[in-house]
Amino acid sequence: MRTGPSGAPFLLVTDRNFDPMDASLQQIVEDARAAMAAAAEPAALANAKARFLGKDGALTQRMKALGKLSAEERSVVGRELNEVKQAVERLVVEREAAIEQAQLQGRLAQEAIDVTLPGRGLGAGGLHPITLTIERIEAIFRSIGFDVADGPEIEEDFYNFTALNTPENHPARSMHDTFYVDARDANGHGLLLRTHTSPMQIRYARMHKPPIKVIAPGKTYRVDSDATHSPMFHQFEGLWVDEDISFTDLKSVYTDFLRQFFETDELDVRFRPSYFPFTEPSAEIDMRFHDGPLAGRWLEVSGSGQVHPNVVRNIGLDPERYIGFAFGSGVERLAMLRYGVGDLRLFYESDLRFLAQFNV
Ligand code: DAH
Repeated sequence: MRTGPSGAPFLLVTDRNFDPMDASLQQIVEDARAAMAAAAEPAALANAKARFLGKDGALTQRMKALGKLSAEERSVVGRELNEVKQAVERLVVEREAAIEQAQLQGRLAQEAIDVTLPGRGLGAGGLHPITLTIERIEAIFRSIGFDVADGPEIEEDFYNFTALNTPENHPARSMHDTFYVDARDANGHGLLLRTHTSPMQIRYARMHKPPIKVIAPGKTYRVDSDATHSPMFHQFEGLWVDEDISFTDLKSVYTDFLRQFFETDELDVRFRPSYFPFTEPSAEIDMRFHDGPLAGRWLEVSGSGQVHPNVVRNIGLDPERYIGFAFGSGVERLAMLRYGVGDLRLFYESDLRFLAQFNV
């Protein structure tokens, strides 16, 4: 006996004595098997399924023809047709699963990642060496009781020059040195890009009572550009006003600052007489390393002095009672010495190969 697609004994209609239809049921199953196997994707499979089980499908037509058979024949042929139908349905389901699986495998292969490849890395940002230097300066001065203040870069003529005892005919006021701003402020004051942080002496001291201990770091501007000068650069101003302090205090504070900043006691500091309109007496502060590539060379790092009585008066204090000491130092200068940078312009070229070295 032949067996049907389900393995059960399979009664072929031809074995019986009535009119066989155009193709044997066995043939339909074989055809269906071939058609499903040929369907490579869901749409093709749906078409193949319709050829057998659809409204005009081969099996459906056979089902419709059952009505013409006698009751006895109908029960036998009907059972066979059902078996064949189930077999074809199983073929469809199997093929559906196979196509799905193949598609999944294809996608997995396509989207495969090689976990052994080296990672791309995440570029971490960092602080600019000038910012790092300013933060370092602030931390040192804070640790000895100095406040840190911030002031405007577009400054009034008055604070930048006049209040600092800098007369009208002073060369620092020249167009060749200073960036003037065409506009005036709301009160009609002349404006400029501050040429130093010294105006912060006036601004801060007018708003605070002695004793005053403050540093004011920030950007400053001058018409100047070469390997050691940039039109924009940074300074930090220091101001110390009290009743009985002396130049010795300034000397020890600044010397201590330099030793902390450069992390060495192996350096000398000297105060060399100089001139600034807003201090009297005035001094340049020079320093000298004992070791290293710059050993033995005096390097100028700051202007300083005792605040001029006119300036003490301009901040609203009595110069007979209060004494002030001030200094103004270049941040770039200190950063160059600390990091061994030979050209100041490197700080402003935004070359990551240079900048990345400061964030390790
Ligand atoms: N403001 C001066 C400059 O930019 C530096 C300076 C000198 C600041 C003496 C001071 C000072 O506070 O006392 O050249």
